[in-house]
Amino acid sequence: MEIDADLRLSFVTEQLPAILWTTDRELRFSSAVGAGLAAMGIASEQVVGVRLEDFFAGDSMAARNLAAHRAALEGQGTSTDARFGNRVFQCRIDPLRDGRGEITGTIGVALDITERKKMEAKLIQAERLASMGTLAAGVAHEINNPLTYVMANIGFVADRLTKLVPRDPSPSVATQLQELATALAEAQEGASRVRQIVRDLKILARGDEERYGPIDVRGVIESSISMVSNQIRMKAQLVRTLADVPLVEASESRLGQVFLNLLVNATQAIDHGDVAGNKIAVCTSTDPVGRAVITVSDTGAGIPPEVMGRIFDPFFTTKPLGVGTGLGLFICHGIVKALGGEIAAESAPGRGTTFRVTLPPARGASKAGFHLNLNPGRG
Ligand SMILES: Nc1ncnc2c1ncn2[C@@H]1O[C@H](COP(=O)(O)OP(=O)(O)OP(=O)(O)O)[C@@H](O)[C@H]1O
Ligand SMILES: [Mg+2]
Repeated sequence: MEIDADLRLSFVTEQLPAILWTTDRELRFSSAVGAGLAAMGIASEQVVGVRLEDFFAGDSMAARNLAAHRAALEGQGTSTDARFGNRVFQCRIDPLRDGRGEITGTIGVALDITERKKMEAKLIQAERLASMGTLAAGVAHEINNPLTYVMANIGFVADRLTKLVPRDPSPSVATQLQELATALAEAQEGASRVRQIVRDLKILARGDEERYGPIDVRGVIESSISMVSNQIRMKAQLVRTLADVPLVEASESRLGQVFLNLLVNATQAIDHGDVAGNKIAVCTSTDPVGRAVITVSDTGAGIPPEVMGRIFDPFFTTKPLGVGTGLGLFICHGIVKALGGEIAAESAPGRGTTFRVTLPPARGASKAGFHLNLNPGRG
């Protein structure tokens, strides 16, 4: 009976999806168990007898870890998140007491929460982007009105100015008129650029007049491709692998904007020169849970890891002034999220990038172009 209980306990401790440890009063590990240890490639025997100070030597969290253990020796428990290597742990460190209540060391438990932390970071980013989208669409809407009369008035002044030009102006009047005309043309150009940005941002506000129907993404992809096929042809081979996909609930024009932005980015990422060797691939597929997956891959410059976290931010661009505004991916993200989907990027710098858009199937939609209700009784 006794042996059974011991055996059972050792199974539990070996397989515990965490790390459990104790130290003596000199902060030397007296035991360390749990599957979390093995996951980090550490054997219990490697740790037992080692001083905490030596074990954590060189670790950025060493001081905090040691302080928590020292506090436990003083009778004070601590809950803390700790980083070890590239993993994050949620730790609890308490005094270890003997039968008489004397503190004989410390006892700690650590849960690996790396994945949860990653998810949280993603959620925070998604929420931040979503609220920025709402704000941007609102600001765009507000700018639109005054912009309309700024543009109309510039046009009006330009028009009247032409009519005021005397038949035979003196050289000084001619120069001044020319200067005025140039200034007006520049103002007009600037205002047009503002209008383009406003238009881009307004896409983020979902218009009720738009039709959201079950659509086949392949049709939308084809029309986006046809808009940029000339640019693509000058840089790379276009490869389509458009397999059957579930219909999705979306507006064609918005979704078209997503694919267009991705295709333009892919084209811009590829240098001129090796048209035969470079490739832009567009694929559609269905994921295991029945969502439509669209990938746009290129063999371009790739995205450096330090930049990856910012590509969906508004106005983030690595392109020269006049080439990029940094709104493309921000808008893609806004549109895809509004459809209940996901957009993510993967990149190998120097080798290329793949953007992956996942969209939930339209309600009642099965394979593209074909609706069949196999379960009429259950709606
Ligand atoms: N396919 C890609 N390959 C390499 N880098 C990319 C790719 N797509 C996006 N990027 C990077 O992400 C940044 C942001 O892209 P985004 O489309 O939002 O803005 P942009 O292309 O710079 O400007 P805009 O789309 O407004 O003209 C780009 O400047 C570029 O650095
Ligand atoms: Mg872009």
